[in-house]
Amino acid sequence: MEVIIQPDAIAAANLTARLIAAELRAKPALTLGLATGRTMESVYGQLVKMHRGENLDFSQCHTFNLDEYVGLAADNPNSYRFYMNRHLFSQVNIESANTHLPNGAANDLETECKKYEWLIVQRGGIGLQLLGIGHDGHIGFNEPLSSWRSRTRVKALSPVTRRENASQFSKPEDVPRRAITMGIGTILDARRCIMLATGADKAEIVAQAIEGPMTAMVSASALQLHPQCVVIVDEASGAKLKRTDFYREIFATEPEWEPYWKSKGGASAETIDELFAGKVGS
Ligand code: GLP
Repeated sequence: MEVIIQPDAIAAANLTARLIAAELRAKPALTLGLATGRTMESVYGQLVKMHRGENLDFSQCHTFNLDEYVGLAADNPNSYRFYMNRHLFSQVNIESANTHLPNGAANDLETECKKYEWLIVQRGGIGLQLLGIGHDGHIGFNEPLSSWRSRTRVKALSPVTRRENASQFSKPEDVPRRAITMGIGTILDARRCIMLATGADKAEIVAQAIEGPMTAMVSASALQLHPQCVVIVDEASGAKLKRTDFYREIFATEPEWEPYWKSKGGASAETIDELFAGKVGS
């Protein structure tokens, strides 16, 4: 696991989008795992900007979202399909047939989950998985005590999660009690993972997930097992991390990260300013 600390939420989202764009440019037929939530809105905004201004091409890309609420059809404004259409799919040149989310309105949910796993395998697995983190440490909707070998299945949502996501619904009682989610095993099978967290309210859970012991009580701590996982945080959500000097040094010195902070590596001066705001290398 590598941790990258950015000055603020915008810089963290921009860097996340740049890393996704770099992977997509290197592999145009990338199978991209996607996430929802407020944190991701600026990532998608940035990808749309890159599509429009820098010809970022989604025409050969396939996507698989982490999760979907049970009982919400695609045209329900609270469904994750609706969110994805709105924030990304309708604004870039992706084929709608290449975009996948579990169908939360399926009659046979068990078959739907199996089909979703099968589709991912058919595509040769997920190349890059984008992840957020919930306040109870969930990734996707893998609530505390989710099995680390779990595959796509129906999960009951915790009271913390239902409260956390209630603002999107007109009444708290409208928040579905269950969701279909990729399992932790499904997520750990992705070749690369990027987890993005921003905001002071995530500081405690981020520290537990990254530096705390691996525990089923914090599903995101399973990412410590992943061979290629990058966690991008802003100063606020990284405020409770202990080894920040080490993380900053790695980002400022490892060749892999050079394009994202040195002008000669291809990032524009504007990007460097955005990414670093004068902090790195000082
Ligand atoms: C939902 C999603 C998660 C996401 C989480 C955080 O619960 N299922 O995938 O990581 O929200 O959302 P936010 O970015 O709004 O804090």
